[in-house]
Parts: sequence; C-alpha cells; structure tokens
Amino acid sequence: MVPDIPLNDGTTIPQLGFGTLNVPPERAPSEQNTAATAEIVGLALAGGYCHIDTAQMYGNEAGVGRAVAASGIPRDELYVTSKLGNGNHRPDDVRHSFAQTLDKLGLAELDLFLIHWPLPTLYDGDYVATWRAMTELVKDGRLRTQGVSNFQPDHLDRITSETGVVPAVNQIEVHPYFRNDAARAASAAHGIAVEAWSPLGQGAVLDDPVVGRIAAERQKTPAQVVLRWHIQHGHIVIPKSTRRERMEENISVFDFELSAEEMTAINALDKGADGRIGPNPDTFAWIP
Ligand code: A2P
Repeated sequence: MVPDIPLNDGTTIPQLGFGTLNVPPERAPSEQNTAATAEIVGLALAGGYCHIDTAQMYGNEAGVGRAVAASGIPRDELYVTSKLGNGNHRPDDVRHSFAQTLDKLGLAELDLFLIHWPLPTLYDGDYVATWRAMTELVKDGRLRTQGVSNFQPDHLDRITSETGVVPAVNQIEVHPYFRNDAARAASAAHGIAVEAWSPLGQGAVLDDPVVGRIAAERQKTPAQVVLRWHIQHGHIVIPKSTRRERMEENISVFDFELSAEEMTAINALDKGADGRIGPNPDTFAWIP
C-alpha cells in the first residue's frame, strides 16, 4: 500500500512511516513509558505501518523494539530509523550509542541512522567528524543507510565536500505553513531525499480554511489532504498519532490525487520563517 522510494545509496525507503516523538509524552526510558510506546507502536504495526521513526533522544527505542519483536513482522518487511542524540556527537560516542540503539531496538542492523541536529555552535562546530563516524557504521555492516536531520544548505555542502559521502536523507521540518524551501532545494540539488517531520504542523495546519475546503470537496480529512500534498512533493512523511483511527486515516492517502491547482493553493499557505514551529537548526544547542 505504501510505495517505496529510491535513495541515492541504492536502497529504498517506504514513503510513509510512523513518527514516535512524544509517544509516550515523557522521554524518560521507564518501564511504564516503554510499555506505553510498545502498545502504541504495536497498533501502528498492526494497522499496516512498516516504517517506524524513533530517536535516541525520544527515550522510547526500547518500546519500539518491544513492539517490533511482538509484531512478528519479518525483518525485511520492516524499516526502522533512529537518530543520534545531541550528547553523542563525538566519534566514540557515535559508535557506543549506536550499539546501544541496536540493542534497545533488538536489531542486528538498522535501516537508517540520522545525525539528529547539526549543532554548529557545539563540538567546535565539527559535525564533519560525526558524519565520518557514521560512515564507519555503514562499512561495519550494522547500518544500511546514513543520513542527517535538520541540516541547512551550508551544513550539507560542508559534509559532502569534506567527506565525499552524500547523505541519503535529510529529515527537516516541512508542512504547508513552513515549506522550508532553502533546505528542500539544497537537499534536492545534492540528490538527498527530503523527509518531513511534523508533516501536519503538529496539527496547526488542519484548521486552515484552504485545507478544509479541499478536504470537503474531496471527501477526505484535512490530515489526508496535507499528507497527500507531501506525497506529491516526493517527501517521505512520518505522521504521528496515538489514536488508532487517525493512524488508519493518515496511512490512507494513496487512493487519490490533488490537482495542480490544489497543490498550488496549499503551496501558497507558506508563511516563510514565521511558519517554523521547531527550533532553528543554526542555533539549536540543547543537550539532554
Ligand atoms: P494525536 O496523537 O492525539 O492524534 P505532526 O505529525 O505534524 O507532529 O502532528 C502530530 C499531531 O497531530 C498530534 O498532536 C496528533 O494528535 C495530531 N494528529 C495526527 N494525525 C491526525 C489526524 N489525522 N487528525 C487530526 N489530528 C491528528
């Protein structure tokens, strides 16, 4: 049902996955949170999601691993992404924390690992050494695909020119209120697939009258219209919901197509920098 799209390293990725930020609401890796995560991710897996997006900093990798193990889905039919925590940028910490990630997820090999934030104001601005350490994980055979998240055009230029290794994916904030054109265009210019986080603008764009009008005309929900807009832009999307009916709604976006006029109308909702919800990657410097 969910199409695979090709990446620049010869692999493919399911275009739609299940995001797990704030599943559950606390990041502490307690047994309670692990159980809650396992239950919600289990619902997603049972509902047809075969691509799960987690991160070291979400504190829920063990819960994702528990759901994956319980699902009985064959490993080669699952796609799992995690992301390097902001406290783990030193090359040794990349290696150690990646091993812990595999352990928590219960996997021998991870499909996709991303540098979560570039942190250009920390670690002497040396995200290149971090990127090189990720390359070693691929050479070791424990990681299939390496990518980045929240990388701005200059960050992409720098890692590719200094290492010769182009990320396969750049996971960035994108939704109709924040098209993030500069980062999307720079990613495309390098042949890097754009993955949209907070594809629904954390719910904000769902009340937009233009989205609402198109949804009513199409007999779809606002969330389906927005996710379809992403799909037609070629973005990988990872909507998150803790509710089973919304999970089902969000994955059911491959049976209709928005017209060029509808795409243009949604494109026009962009608010530029004012539409950004999350932190600015040039200045974000939070270490948990
Ligand atoms: P909930 O988990 O209660 O369903 P994003 O993926 O852009 O970060 O957005 C996630 C937010 O959007 C969550 O608050 C989630 O709430 C809500 N959400 C997810 N899917 C839908 C949907 N189909 N309709 C309405 N709200 C949704």
